[in-house]
Amino acid sequence: MPDPHLVDWTAMILRWFHLVTGAAWIGASFYFVWLNNHVRPVDSGDATPGLSGEVFAIHGGAFYRVSKFGGAPEKLPSVLHWFKWEAYLTWVTGFLLLGLTYWMDARSMMVDPAVRDLSPAAAVGVGAGSLVVGYLAYDLLCRGLSRQPLLLAALGTALFTGASYALFGLLGARAATIHLGAMIGTIMVANVLFVIIPGQRAMVDAMVAGREPPLERGQAGALRSFHNNYFTLPALFVMVSNHYPVIWGHRLAWLLVVGICVLGGLIRHGFNLAGVGRPRPFLPSVAGALGLVLLAVATRATPRHTASEAVNLTAVQQVIASRCQSCHSQTPTQPGFVAAPKGLALDDRATIEANRAKIGAQVSNGAMPLGNITAMTDDERQLLVKWASGG
Ligand code: HEC
Repeated sequence: MPDPHLVDWTAMILRWFHLVTGAAWIGASFYFVWLNNHVRPVDSGDATPGLSGEVFAIHGGAFYRVSKFGGAPEKLPSVLHWFKWEAYLTWVTGFLLLGLTYWMDARSMMVDPAVRDLSPAAAVGVGAGSLVVGYLAYDLLCRGLSRQPLLLAALGTALFTGASYALFGLLGARAATIHLGAMIGTIMVANVLFVIIPGQRAMVDAMVAGREPPLERGQAGALRSFHNNYFTLPALFVMVSNHYPVIWGHRLAWLLVVGICVLGGLIRHGFNLAGVGRPRPFLPSVAGALGLVLLAVATRATPRHTASEAVNLTAVQQVIASRCQSCHSQTPTQPGFVAAPKGLALDDRATIEANRAKIGAQVSNGAMPLGNITAMTDDERQLLVKWASGG
C-alpha cells in the first residue's frame, strides 16, 4: 500500500498541473476561434501576398497585429509555433490522476457491488477500454460521415448516450462519470495527436520539399478542431460534476450527464454564431442555460418523511460511529486515511447535527459510505436519510 500522505500530495500536484495545462489548452483554442472570427480583409497597402485578413488587438499595454493566410504562406518562417504541448500535457496529467485516484484504488473508487460486483481488475479494464473504444468509434464515425455533420452529431450523441448507460451499469456512479469525462478528453487529445498535428506536419513537409501543400489534410484537421471546440464545455462539465453527487448520485445520472453535455454544446454554439456575426446568436446559449435551470428543478428529490416518527439522534450517532467514523474522525482507523476526508470529522453530536443536510445528500444517493466499505445496511441508510430530511 503506497503512503497515503504522498499519494495525496502527488494527486494534488497532478490536479494543479492538469488544471493549468487544461486552461492553457482551452484558452489557446478559444483564442484561435476568436482570431478566425475576427480577422478582417487587409486594408493597408503593405500586405504580404496570400494574406486573407488581419486583426488588431491591444492587451497588457501593447498593440498586436495578427495576420492570417488564406492557404499556406509562400515561404515558411524559421520559427513556427505548433500549440500541441498544452493538449498532450493535459492528457498525461489527467491520465496519471485518473490512474492514481481511481485505478490504483479500484476496490473503493470504481466498484459498486450494488451496481455490479466486478473485480477491481475488471473495473480498471472497463475504464481503460472505454477510453480506447470511445476514440475508435468516434474516429470511424468521422471518417464515414465527414460530409453529413448533422447525422454525425446525432449518431455521435446516441453512441455517447450508450457509452454512458454502459459505464453507469458497470461501475460505481462517480467512476462512471469521470470515465465519461476522460473519454471526451481523450477524443479531444487524440484529434490533436492523430489528425490535426500530422495534417499540419504533412503541409509543412510538402512546403519544405517545394511541393504544393495538401490543403485537404489541413481541412481534415480543421473539422476535428471544430469538434473539439464543441467538446470543451461538455468535457469541463463532466470533469467537474464528478465532485457533485447531485449529478452522479441521481437515479438517472447516465441520462442527466448526457443531457447537460448537450446543453453545454448548445451554449457553445451560441458563442460560435456570435463569432461569425449571425443575428440573435445567443438564442441557443439562452436555451441551454434555461435547460440547466429546468434540469436542476426537475431532478430535485422531494423528501418522504412522516413527522410523527421522529428519529432519535442517539440511534443516528450509533450508525455514524460504526459506518462512518472509521474515516470521518479526527483519528481515522481506515487504512489509507490520515485525516478526516474533506475535514469532516463526525466524532460528536454537534458536528453531526451541523452537517445534517450534507450527510443526508451523500447517504441518500449512495455516495457514502465510500464504496460501502463499512457495509452499511439499507435500514441504517433509511434511518439517516429520514433523520436528515427532518423526520
Ligand atoms: C472509506 C472511508 C469513508 C467512509 C467509511 C465514509 N466516508 Fe464520507 N467521504 C470519504 C471521502 C474520501 C470523501 C471525499 C470525497 C470527495 O473527494 O468528493 C468523503 C466525503 C463525505 C462527505 C462530503 C463532505 C464535503 O464537505 O463535501 C460527506 C457529507 C460524507 N462523506 C459523509 C459520510 C457519512 C455520513 C458516512 C457514513 C454513512 C461516510 N461519509 C463514510 C470517505 C469515507
